[in-house]
Amino acid sequence: SQVQDMSKEKVEAAKNMAFAFDIDGVLAHGLEPIEEAKQALKMLNGDNELGIKIPYVLLTNGGGKTEEARCKQLAEQLEVPISTQQFIQSHTPMQALAEYYETVLVCGGEGYKVREVAETYGFKHVVHPKDIQAWDPTISPWGTFTEEDRAGAKPRDFSKMKFDAILVFADSRDYATDFQIIIDLLLSDNGKLLTRAEDPENSRIPIYFSQGDFVFATAHRGPSRLTQGAFRIAIEAQYKAATGVELERIVYGKPERATYTYADEVLKNWMEEIHNESRLPKNVYMIGDNPQSDIVGGNMYGWNTCLVRTGVFQGKEGENDTNNPANFGVYDHVLDAVKAVIRKEL
Ligand code: G3P
Ligand code: MG
Repeated sequence: SQVQDMSKEKVEAAKNMAFAFDIDGVLAHGLEPIEEAKQALKMLNGDNELGIKIPYVLLTNGGGKTEEARCKQLAEQLEVPISTQQFIQSHTPMQALAEYYETVLVCGGEGYKVREVAETYGFKHVVHPKDIQAWDPTISPWGTFTEEDRAGAKPRDFSKMKFDAILVFADSRDYATDFQIIIDLLLSDNGKLLTRAEDPENSRIPIYFSQGDFVFATAHRGPSRLTQGAFRIAIEAQYKAATGVELERIVYGKPERATYTYADEVLKNWMEEIHNESRLPKNVYMIGDNPQSDIVGGNMYGWNTCLVRTGVFQGKEGENDTNNPANFGVYDHVLDAVKAVIRKEL
């Protein structure tokens, strides 16, 4: 019948749209969930007129703990199931680097959680800056070192170790120590602590940053707060001051293209998981709060983009971002954006 044909068409349309959600400033502010986000995700999980799952992935520049731990936490906050198979955090694509580097310095995040992350990714020898501080506290004159740091540290004889790469996975919790040890390794003779290279440019080990955001949305009521991009800029300036040359570095995360191609792969597999169809939905919508990462990256990648007003973007009612306007409009919150997309697509 006609009614059946119409709903069949709608089911196809529902499988031909997909969402990529930013987390901080869209679904949550730090540990506080955004109420409208709960409703939006419930709708996509099947609580809609068709009773069908509309595919979505979470694409965040956050990081610092395992995918499993973060998804579990998000599911509790947002009161919907979240699978690691629909989740990409800043360092998720960096697991590919485990093939190239054995001994890595891994920085950022709470406690020693990034150690576990790097180990699950397959890096053989993972060193945390606090391990080095535990071995020789004089290495960081202004760093902090608590009893908790001591308890989790794995000091070894680092004078004998050669580091292959430096990986920054999340925001530093001890800038003094992380700056010092990263700069030490960048200036060292091929990744050996306590040495200085004669020609630092030629014997420099590579450094990777999991994302480049300068600021991010938190629970703070004032302007957005500094994040990993600010830390990277400081490292670059210190390296330049020490050597006179620019630091070559690699940055992952939004708006870098590699992160979007990775997200496509994840989305394709997720389609297979929920609809038994291994293909990309035609119309992907990025919902983000940061024009300089979420929106510009989505626009460049050929996605539709929605900017929300619950995070970094501070424009007035009716305004879009001037430099990186969202091509599918600006919304008060994520639920309004999702509803607008569904209205257009179904
Ligand atoms: O440190 C920045 C990061 O937390 C931003 O996360 O979800 O807004 O990409 P998100
Ligand atoms: Mg955000």
